[in-house]
Formats: sequence, C-alpha cells, structure tokens
Amino acid sequence: MKTILSDFPIDSFQKDLIGWFQREQRILPWRENSDPYRVWVSEIMLQQTRVDTVIPYFLNFMEKFPDVQSLAKADEEQVMKAWEGLGYYSRVRNLQFAVREVSEAYDGIVPADPGKFGELKGVGPYTKGAVMSIAYNIPEPAVDGNVMRVMSRILLIDEDIAKPKTRKLFDTAIREVISKDNPSDFNQALMELGALICTPSSPSCLLCPVREHCQAFAEGRQHELPVKSKKKKQKSMLMAAAVLRDSSGSYWIRKRPSEGLLANLWEFPNCETVSDTLTQKEELETYLIRELEAIPELTPVEGVIQHVFSHLIWNIALFAGIVENVKEGSGLVKVTEEEMKQYAFPVPHQKIFKLYLEKENK
Ligand code: ADE
Repeated sequence: MKTILSDFPIDSFQKDLIGWFQREQRILPWRENSDPYRVWVSEIMLQQTRVDTVIPYFLNFMEKFPDVQSLAKADEEQVMKAWEGLGYYSRVRNLQFAVREVSEAYDGIVPADPGKFGELKGVGPYTKGAVMSIAYNIPEPAVDGNVMRVMSRILLIDEDIAKPKTRKLFDTAIREVISKDNPSDFNQALMELGALICTPSSPSCLLCPVREHCQAFAEGRQHELPVKSKKKKQKSMLMAAAVLRDSSGSYWIRKRPSEGLLANLWEFPNCETVSDTLTQKEELETYLIRELEAIPELTPVEGVIQHVFSHLIWNIALFAGIVENVKEGSGLVKVTEEEMKQYAFPVPHQKIFKLYLEKENK
C-alpha cells in the first residue's frame, strides 16, 4: 500500500471531498436522520438498484415497518409485498431474518460494533461499512462498485474490479484515507461523487472537487478506469406460462419454492420448454396435466414477455385457459383479482398479467 498512497495528501483530500459533500449532497429520505435501522434498510435497497427507483420503496417500507420491532414482527408476505418489483428478493428475506436477530439478541438496538453487525445475515463488508460509518460514525470502509470506480481513478489503480480480491485492495486503501473525524460524510461523499460527478462513461472532471488529487485526471486516463472484465453472457431460456381462471373469473396462482430464484414469490403456472414455436402449447399442456390433473384448453396470447435477470433471460410465451378444479396438493390457489393485489409477484409475472389484461380482457 505504501506505493499507492505515498505522497497522497490525505488531509486536503478529506477536506475537499467532505466540504463538497456538505455543500452539494442531494436531499434523500434516508439522510433525514442517522437512525441505524433506516440507514440499514436504505443500504440494502440501494444495492443493485438506482436511487430514483429506491426512493418510493423506501418511503413505503418506512411507513409500514418504521423500526426494528415492526419489521421483526411483520408477516413475511407483507414484507415481500413491500419489496415487490425491487428484485434480488433474498436481500429482504435476509434483512428480516437479521432484524429478528437484532430484536432478540440485541434488544432491538442495531449493534454499534462492526464485528457483531457484520455477522448478521445478509450483511457483507459493504453493508457493514456503510451502516457503521453513516449511522455510528465508525471509520469502516464501504466499498461498492461506485466507490471502486472513484478510487481507481483517484489513485490510478488498474486492478480488475470484477475480481473479488480487488475489493480488498480498495478496502485497505480506504482504511488509510478515510476521515477518522467524519467517516459518515467521507463515505457518503465518495458515493455521492460516484453518482453525480465521477460517473462511468463521461465523468465531469471539470466540476470535480478532488480533481487536483486525481491521478487519472492528471494523466488524462480517467476514461480507461476502472478496469472491469466482462461478465459471462446471460443464459437464455424458453418458457411458457398460463393465466388460468375458473368460470367465476378467479385466477389460479402458486407460490414459488422457498429456495432458489425468486423464492417464495407468487406466479402463474409455467414451465421451461424446448421449442419456441409449434410444440410449445403442447409442452405446457402436458406440464399442466401432470401438475393439475386437469386439461385446460389453452389459447395463445399474442406477444412474448422477456425478462432479463443478471444471469438469465426468460422468454415467455403466454397462454390463457379455463380450469375449474385442480388436484389436491398441486400448490395452486384460487384468488380473485382483488385478492391478488395482496400477493407479491416478481416483475416477469407482473408483465404476464399486464399482457394478459391488455389482450384478453379488453
Ligand atoms: N448508494 C449507496 N448508498 C447510498 C447512499 N447512502 N446515498 C446515496 N446513494 C447511495
């Protein structure tokens, strides 16, 4: 580390960075106070999700579950419903699990100890650093992709940020440069700089408060950094789904398994198919006959639904059908359109329902 940080003017860097943050920071709902529970929820939501998307979810979540105790006691279905559409649902399952532990083991007080907090479910090094610094002013680094981009430019670090071990390098560097007086503003300032100025493709270097400390700017190499190797292409999957109703107009839906992708969320019955054309309807019918012991007459609904996950792409053909009864133990439940609003559906199944309503319920 001596090599990266030798001659780096830590004090003036901290002063310029924090001063800029105090003048220019955005007004955001999780910045209203430093309640550790609020900070924790916001940091979990902000992982993989943009600030603009998070704001309404955060406000709604705080209204429904304003503190540790209310989230600890909450019904899991309601918690999933409040997260519906945000994606990466294990984040909220882990959060509730961890909050229950805080309620039981720590009397409902989020521990102000990085070692203890970092052991809670779903709390990785980033969340630990962000919550400990922002809520409790403890000088822990909070290194995510944005912070690595900013610091790779400032310190001219050309290690591949897609590699897990590179995060540790940044962690070590930030431990050296973090303000010990105001780690909260220091870490938030790095995040804010990454969001507003030191953006991925066209950084606004001329507006940057720490330009004079930036080694990439000095060498005109800001566009070359960070070095980030390409991730594997997503696997593409062909699927077919059925919106099944009974003659009273209710819908048949089911809960996904408690492990794996989109665990515990609700969905329309569906299966993977080998073809995307002629046999797809038969493949879905065969699947439904096995699952439901009922033979729905399926009609195709025009249009294909595509949903891109980080590692997977679903291409879903949609069918509609009528089914009065299903076999015991099939896992399908019958709900009215009004009741369906209580259930949390992942975005691809929200898209299925939207297409169905547009095409079939005109
Ligand atoms: N991204 C991650 N954490 C953030 C925060 N606390 N404020 C704004 N953007 C963020």
